[in-house]
This record gives sequence, structure tokens and C-alpha cells, in this order.
Amino acid sequence: MRQDHLITATQLSRDDIEAVLDRARAVADDPAAYADRHAGRVLALCFFEPSTRTRMSFDSAAKRLGMNTIDMGDVDSSSVSKGESLSDTVRVIEGYADALVLRHPSEGAATLAGERVDVPVVNAGDGAGQHPSQTLLDLHTIREDHGLDDLTIGIMGDLKYGRTVHSLAAALTEFDANQHFISPESLRLPRSVRFDLHETGAQIREHEELEPVLDELDVLYVTRIQKERFPDENEYHRVAGEYRIDAETLDAAADDLTVMHPLPRVDEIAPDVDETDHARYFEQAHNGIPVRMALLDTLLKNANPDGDEGTEV
Ligand code: CP
Repeated sequence: MRQDHLITATQLSRDDIEAVLDRARAVADDPAAYADRHAGRVLALCFFEPSTRTRMSFDSAAKRLGMNTIDMGDVDSSSVSKGESLSDTVRVIEGYADALVLRHPSEGAATLAGERVDVPVVNAGDGAGQHPSQTLLDLHTIREDHGLDDLTIGIMGDLKYGRTVHSLAAALTEFDANQHFISPESLRLPRSVRFDLHETGAQIREHEELEPVLDELDVLYVTRIQKERFPDENEYHRVAGEYRIDAETLDAAADDLTVMHPLPRVDEIAPDVDETDHARYFEQAHNGIPVRMALLDTLLKNANPDGDEGTEV
């Protein structure tokens, strides 16, 4: 992977993805070999929206590479609350850090940040746009269970606003996956995402119900209905709770079906699924550590090609 920033999943080739995932596997197998690899470097965490997994796993991943982290904190306690622009904010923060992780409510925010600064930028979610580092950990989780070839996946829930869906669907085209999208009509994939998928020749089908396709799936990727992105809360209440699965739902699934969710969940996966052999969402979240270590290692190596760290693995 020879990239300066990670802004969208569409920028990643199959080789790029496999290189990061191979490195993530190496990190997981021998974390001590990476412990001081980026000692003295600093990662800036800039979250303009709430986060538990992405913020904390990047923080943990950086520290496990020997880095320090600085956190912009809540928007209300930063100078963003005084009206500072995103452009000025990231241009200042690049002077304090060697890489920057950015979550922002506006689609395109990470693209803008990447244009303004020279240090590597990771898009940690831009509105309803993309969340590519989530995609890398999703693919790592899928690869560990099923491999990435000949995959049939169902992606269910809020396909309109779900940025993890947009990134994952794009990346899966690199592996010619059969993709089934299951949602209410009002939460279908955005037209632009469907267009881009069709342009790649991707095999995609759309459904309003899970039941007809459930037994074909290797992976069921469930997503939360993104209440915070609905312009009309009444519309949220009309669709919330429609796409809920429980252990009984999965009686009709293949024995080796993997159930994933980027989390947080609200009520779309009942707690009794946690006790089944299908549930993989907590391991998925934990995979954020080796995958984000591998990603930071790769981007920092690209940014510092003459350094002695980040040896190819
Ligand atoms: N999956 C994910 O992005 O979770 P957070 O919003 O908690 O970071």
C-alpha cells in the first residue's frame, strides 16, 4: 500500500487490502515485535462526533506501537466551539503530531483535511460517507472465518446513512463478493453508491426481507439505524426495529454463518445471539487493535520512507 492518507475504501486495491491484513495478522501473532516501532511519534485524535471503538482502539493501537497520543477532546471544549474552521484546526494540529485520525459529521471532511496537511490522515467516519479503517477490520474478521474469495454476504439495516456499509461494499468489489443488501425501501443504498458498485461490475442484489436469502449467506453484517442522521425523527420511528434478528431467526442460517455488526447496537441484534456460535461482533471490535496497528505502521512507513521502522512483513 503506497498511500499518504486513508480517506475512502475505494482508494484501496485488493493488494493494498491484503498487505494491511497480512501485517495485522503478523501483529496479532507477535505484538512484541511492533512494541517500539514508532516510539517518539505522536498520533492526534480529532473526533467531532462521538466514538468509543474507533477513538479508543486507535489510541490503544498507537500506544502499542510506542507512540504517544493527543486528543482534541470534545468539540465543546476545543476552539471549534469559537468558530474555528476544520481547515485551520487540522493545519494547526499537524504541527503537533505525525498522523491524524479524523471523525467529522460532514461528508468530505477527511478529503479536505487530507488536502490541507502533509501528515497521514485517516478518515474515521465522515458523516454518512465512508469509514475505511472499520472496513479493514471487518475484512480481517471475515478473512479469519471464511477467507475473502467466493464470499456471499448480506448487509442489512440502514444502508442509506451507514458509512461502514458504503466502505465495506466498495472494498468487497475487489474480491468479487456476492452482495445482498437488505433494507426498507427508504433506507436503500444511496443512488451514488449503487452507481459506483454497478460501475465495477459488482454482483449486488437488493431485498426488503432477510428470510429469502438467509440460508445462502456466509456473513450477515447488521447495522444500526442511524437515528442521528434522520432529518425527520418520525421517519426514524417508522423504520426502527423492523430489521431485528434473534437466535431463532438464525435457525434457518448455515451452521457457519458469521454475524457481524460495527457496533454500537441498539436492539437490532437480540442479546441471545451473543450466545450462539454465529456471533462475531465483539471479536470484530477487538480486531481494531491489530488492524489499526498495521494501518498506522503502513502509513507512517509511507510518510517516512528513509526511517528504519515499519519493515515490510
Ligand atoms: N464502529 C464504530 O465506528 O464505533 P464507534 O462509533 O464507537 O467508534
